[in-house]
Amino acid sequence: MKFSLRKLASILFLVCGALLVGSTVAGHKMNDNDLELAVDNAEIVESGRYWFARRCAFCHGGDGIGGKGPCLTCGKFTYSANTNTDIMTTISIGIPRNRGGSMGAFGTTMPAEAIIAVVTFMRAEEARRIEAGEIPDPYAHKEEAMVFPE
Ligand code: HEC
Repeated sequence: MKFSLRKLASILFLVCGALLVGSTVAGHKMNDNDLELAVDNAEIVESGRYWFARRCAFCHGGDGIGGKGPCLTCGKFTYSANTNTDIMTTISIGIPRNRGGSMGAFGTTMPAEAIIAVVTFMRAEEARRIEAGEIPDPYAHKEEAMVFPE
């Protein structure tokens, strides 16, 4: 194999680039086992916004603030445990009558990438709304100060 400085340089460049991207993307996950969503990846968030507007906003309101269906950008999920994985399951299989719901399943009419993008968009919008003070921070657990007896 002929050694090429140019090839080596381009490989180094790629590796450094990948490391840089990997370290700057802030993911969102609720616990160690949850699927991490790239909420800082504008391309994925925008794709999610697009799908949300087409398939979900009709019932869940523009930007997911709620309507006929509940708010999906308020940090609270009563039908799904508040993990990305559970929310994606809800979207895929819907909320059938025996779970007390009426929302249809999207798993067969939306590609998996689109469902992941939709939840990424929901989480990015949730973070934006918390930051903007539009909704109270649902994750700010106020812990009582511990008082030890003398
Ligand atoms: C035809 C109306 C309708 C459409 C369209 C719809 N939903 Fe729903 N969704 C509901 C209703 C109503 C509920 C509340 C539970 C129920 O009655 O089924 C719900 C509940 C949910 C929940 C559970 C919320 C919780 O508190 O745990 C999620 C997540 C959800 N929807 C996501 C979506 C997404 C994402 C889309 C688009 C891909 C979508 N829904 C499209 C009506 C809809």
